[in-house]
Amino acid sequence: MKLPEIIKITEAYVAERFPVEKMSYSAMVVKKEVPVHRLSWAYYMGGLALFFFGVQMVTGLLLLFYYQPTVSDAHASVEFITDHVPGGSLVRNMHAWASSMMIAAVMVHLLTAFAMKAFAKPREMTWVTGVVLLGITFGLGFTGYLLPWHQVAVNATKIGLQSVQEVGQYLPGAMAEWPRIVKETIQGEAAVGQATLSRFFALHVIILPLAMMGTLGIHLLSVQLHGMSRGIDGAPKRHEKFFPTFFIKDLTVWGVAFIVLFVIALCVPFESLYSYPLFEPFNPKGSTPDGIKPEWYFYFLYYPLELLPFWVILVGSTLLGAVLMGTPWIFQNTSRKTLQILAVLAGLYLFVMTVFGEQIYHMFKG
Ligand code: HEM
Repeated sequence: MKLPEIIKITEAYVAERFPVEKMSYSAMVVKKEVPVHRLSWAYYMGGLALFFFGVQMVTGLLLLFYYQPTVSDAHASVEFITDHVPGGSLVRNMHAWASSMMIAAVMVHLLTAFAMKAFAKPREMTWVTGVVLLGITFGLGFTGYLLPWHQVAVNATKIGLQSVQEVGQYLPGAMAEWPRIVKETIQGEAAVGQATLSRFFALHVIILPLAMMGTLGIHLLSVQLHGMSRGIDGAPKRHEKFFPTFFIKDLTVWGVAFIVLFVIALCVPFESLYSYPLFEPFNPKGSTPDGIKPEWYFYFLYYPLELLPFWVILVGSTLLGAVLMGTPWIFQNTSRKTLQILAVLAGLYLFVMTVFGEQIYHMFKG
């Protein structure tokens, strides 16, 4: 194929996915409608993820007034926020709880968008940008975990980065060195230390939030241009106006989410989920203490990693990543019924591994 032809095909493809000529107040606000059916609740999930992202931006900016990104002061500055800054403990707790809630909302959003076949033409780019958003969300969780510089934070990050390096032994020739280079680039020096903290801080507060905002812009533009997908087979019961009906319901969901988050953050310190000594400042001379685990949202990968050979998880997660990216094309002819079964199975796997992962681990490893 010649270059002009490739350009023409690309232009036509982009024009169909981003019909910006449709951008008008009338089409995007006055006439916008949402289908009403048994799965309509799923249309609130993306908005919920968006709400939690907003909470993270506000609480994160407030934490920046006091947080110090240095190995000597990070832990003390976090303790100072918790014990001495008025409202500091609440803001910090909201940031920690909302990160978990955002990840849960994004996972449910992904599964429901899949089950409703919302990725089908012309929404391929909504889906693909969604997969990128999922990666950025996990990246924010991983980088944020290190910042308080306590035992769990530093040791869990070391283990996470070590698994990146281990990928090398399964790659051929010169490629075997790539994962080590990636690890050292992220780590910044021979061991997890100040350079790592500086890089994770830059990623967590600037690079990933900017990447999130850019990608989210394309994601939401695409949603606005195509309207909500039908979501079910056959015609929906009826449609409701986006403004003001659906929008008011969206705001109500956000209001309830805020109250739930506020009450939980006020009553349950996020750290009470772990054993206390693990929150001592990181001791570079000590050995890795028992009980170090990643955050719950990595359990679906962590427990299988503890139970199965590394290469099985490597092949499995590479395939999963490829299938997620390729979903709009791989499943274009799959019925909604099959998609719903697959989504329920995936949801069950996530639930069982997250809630019972430890028991499953002990069952097999004693
Ligand atoms: C930071 C993460 C994310 C945010 C803030 C976000 C936000 C949104 C919002 C506000 C909507 C419109 C309301 C709705 O349909 O729920 C939406 C739609 C959509 N999102 Fe996301 N999203 C995120 C991640 C994802 C992920 C991980 C996927 C899947 C890979 C995804 C796929 C989709 C699809 C296909 C639609 C169109 C739904 C339809 O037309 O019915 N999004 N997103």
